Amino acid sequence: MSEAVSEAVTMLKNGEVVALPTETVYGLAADAFNAEAVAKVFEAKERPSFDPLIVHVSSADELNEVAKVPEDVEKTVQKLISAFWPGPLTLVLPKSDKVPDIVTSGLPDVAVRQSGNKIFREIGKELGRPIAAPSANRFGRISPTAGSAVMKELEGRIPLIVDGGACRDGLESTIVRVEAGEKRPIIHILRLGPVTKKELQNFGRVIIEKKRVIDEHPKVPGQLASHYAPVTPLLMFDKPEDFVPEEGKKYGLLSHKGDPKAGYIDLHEWAMVESLSPGSGKLPEAAVRLFHVLRVLDEAGLDAIVAEPVSDTGLGQAIMDRLRRASLPSS
Ligand code: TXA
Ligand code: MG
Repeated sequence: MSEAVSEAVTMLKNGEVVALPTETVYGLAADAFNAEAVAKVFEAKERPSFDPLIVHVSSADELNEVAKVPEDVEKTVQKLISAFWPGPLTLVLPKSDKVPDIVTSGLPDVAVRQSGNKIFREIGKELGRPIAAPSANRFGRISPTAGSAVMKELEGRIPLIVDGGACRDGLESTIVRVEAGEKRPIIHILRLGPVTKKELQNFGRVIIEKKRVIDEHPKVPGQLASHYAPVTPLLMFDKPEDFVPEEGKKYGLLSHKGDPKAGYIDLHEWAMVESLSPGSGKLPEAAVRLFHVLRVLDEAGLDAIVAEPVSDTGLGQAIMDRLRRASLPSS
């Protein structure tokens, strides 16, 4: 066991919070059964208490400790777990009594996943208890996909960041709720992510929840409207020509492939241009780089960032979801 792993485990056992790498984004971890430790997560993130946390399990046994899988969806849940765990799929299931209410914000359901990150898995196994971990950013801000980004978000607020390098996927997990349907099971996507609608269609009828809930106690908290937001305003347009720059302002472009044919690069004299997938031009590269590039642009002292859309299919749906939410003003 590495020193970082044993230090993290000791801290978690002592009711401390630590930032850990996962394959999606960095998480701010606490022992899920320790309500006081979980309270520290909310405090460090300045997260409102109505927004519940995801619980990370290390095994099927641990899943049964935190959730009660309803009989009518048991088969589908099993199939989803076999197909996608460990990995970026989170299941919303009825919670067990062992999970403190603070974890689920008083909801009867708990969101559960098993992370595929090697360091995270080692820590979970060694701890022997489920880990509650939201993304390791301040509330509403850009999720960190590198140890250095966690530092910028939470330095001075938490005692330990385990740096596991860049995250493999770069986008938060896909969150689903499974319902028994008449003919086929129904899989509701509550948050788009690395596991795509198409992949889930092998297991049931898939519905993407479009609701943008912004009331005090959202039913689907993962759907908070403004999220993943840089401090610098982020602008999106239906067509490049809709962008009308204001005199004297500095604009940065978040381009998809850096390709002039998309119509944005030659539109304006940008103070800065960053591309999501300059190498492959493919969506996985864009997903991995999205939050990093948003951070780079956010730190450049621009008046606004214009984001070129990516194709709204497959992984692109999850990327567009993040861009749209980042472009909404926070209320
Ligand atoms: O990839 C991920 O999921 C990362 C890594 C660290 O695992 N975690 C993450 O956590 O993105 P967080 O807290 O930033 O986002 C979790 C989302 C929140 O929007 C929350 O509202 C929603 O999951 N959520 C948690 N519990 C829920 C529940 N019981 N019902 C519906 N939504 C829930
Ligand atoms: Mg988050």
